[in-house]
Amino acid sequence: MLTIGVLASGRGSNFQAIIDSINSGFLKARIALLVTDNPTAYAIERAKKHNIEVLVTRPKEFPDKDSYYSHIAKELKNRGVELVILAGFMRVVGKALIKEFRNKIMNIHPALLPSFPGLHGQKQASDYGVKISGCTVHFVDEGVDTGPIIIQAAVPVYEDDTEDSLSERILKQEHRIFPFAIKLFSEGKITVERRKVSIKGHREDAIIVNPPLR
Ligand code: GRF
Repeated sequence: MLTIGVLASGRGSNFQAIIDSINSGFLKARIALLVTDNPTAYAIERAKKHNIEVLVTRPKEFPDKDSYYSHIAKELKNRGVELVILAGFMRVVGKALIKEFRNKIMNIHPALLPSFPGLHGQKQASDYGVKISGCTVHFVDEGVDTGPIIIQAAVPVYEDDTEDSLSERILKQEHRIFPFAIKLFSEGKITVERRKVSIKGHREDAIIVNPPLR
């Protein structure tokens, strides 16, 4: 069974979607640890409710970025973590963690990368005037939202959308594709060559187009 470690900074709805997928039997995995940089993150309550160990650790307690991420890597490794999930972790992850978990750290981004990386992907998309946006699960490399793309889901952008209404439509898809990407990983179906991800026997599963027409 796959052992997962989750990093989250906030409300943790993606974290919850992963917990729910495990509890329903969709995902055969175990969450060994929640790491958070925010002592007031709602994700902590979710972890406690499901008896998941929590580690609160803040960069300011460390002399530099390298030692902070080395510490996190060590805590994850000590618990046998094989896959690291960034579920709303609001920091650019340091090299010290990436090198320990190369192509074993997944992030979810609320836009169709490579468009609109960084913060507020939903607002960027809506301000730009695109007609389709969505979300992307990708492996984490040293850049900001630049790593190999695993799965994307598309949603329509309506003229009267606000940042909130678009975010909500995208979030529903995030909750579907993140557990699914983890499931594919746990089944050994994901291979990465340079920056291209192949999914064994599931090529079409990497694309989820789901326009909820109204
Ligand atoms: C999501 O929009 C995700 O795409 C982004 O951060 C947000 C986290 O939300 N990376 P939550 O904490 O999972 O509810």
